[in-house]
Amino acid sequence: MKKFYLNEKEFEVLEGVYEPAEDSFLLAEAVKAEAGWKCLDLGTGSGIQAVNMAEQGAEVVASDVNENALDNAELNMKKIGLEKKIETRKSNLFEKIPEKFDCIVFNPPYVPGNREEWKDTDGGERGRQVLDRFIEETGKHLKEKGVCYFLQSSLNKFEETKEMLMKKKMWFEEVARRKLFFEELIVFKCWNK
Ligand SMILES: C[S@@+](CC[C@H](N)C(=O)[O-])C[C@H]1O[C@@H](n2cnc3c(N)ncnc32)[C@H](O)[C@@H]1O
Repeated sequence: MKKFYLNEKEFEVLEGVYEPAEDSFLLAEAVKAEAGWKCLDLGTGSGIQAVNMAEQGAEVVASDVNENALDNAELNMKKIGLEKKIETRKSNLFEKIPEKFDCIVFNPPYVPGNREEWKDTDGGERGRQVLDRFIEETGKHLKEKGVCYFLQSSLNKFEETKEMLMKKKMWFEEVARRKLFFEELIVFKCWNK
């Protein structure tokens, strides 16, 4: 069984679920949630972002298209004792998520490719297939002062993201950046104007 640690808590990673890497940890470090907030962790994988927000006192919906990921998130939230703070829900992006949130977090599949077997990381031919759909819809799911944090790689063009956010009339800032061997990662924070 693969294991990882966040805030000194031990998590497990089930077969067929994304094993948290630099992208996951960079995003988790950047996200600031508040007690009582209603938060959404899209593409929860092992549940790392959902647990991180629940530990900060938030009530969280953890969602994924992959049922193994939902099982994995449930396993970790129970292990850490946060199962009362997190609800899991199967959904393709916002399809089954009608409500609005104080905070939305997403570490999308972003590697350019089109490789079905890499569904955790594959973002379609240009790496933007899921990211673009997410940016298109996320503003509608934020409460009035709600914020959204998402991760992006230089592999799929920061400038395109900034242009899209401006077109959607969203304010944004870069809250974390890390250079890796073959790419650079950014965490964007954005909110409705
Ligand atoms: C890079 S992993 C991130 C996992 C975890 N949030 C983390 O930070 O380590 C991307 C996750 O998004 C999920 N995913 C991919 N496409 C999705 C979609 N259209 N709707 C919801 N989840 C999706 C994958 O199943 C995977 O668990």
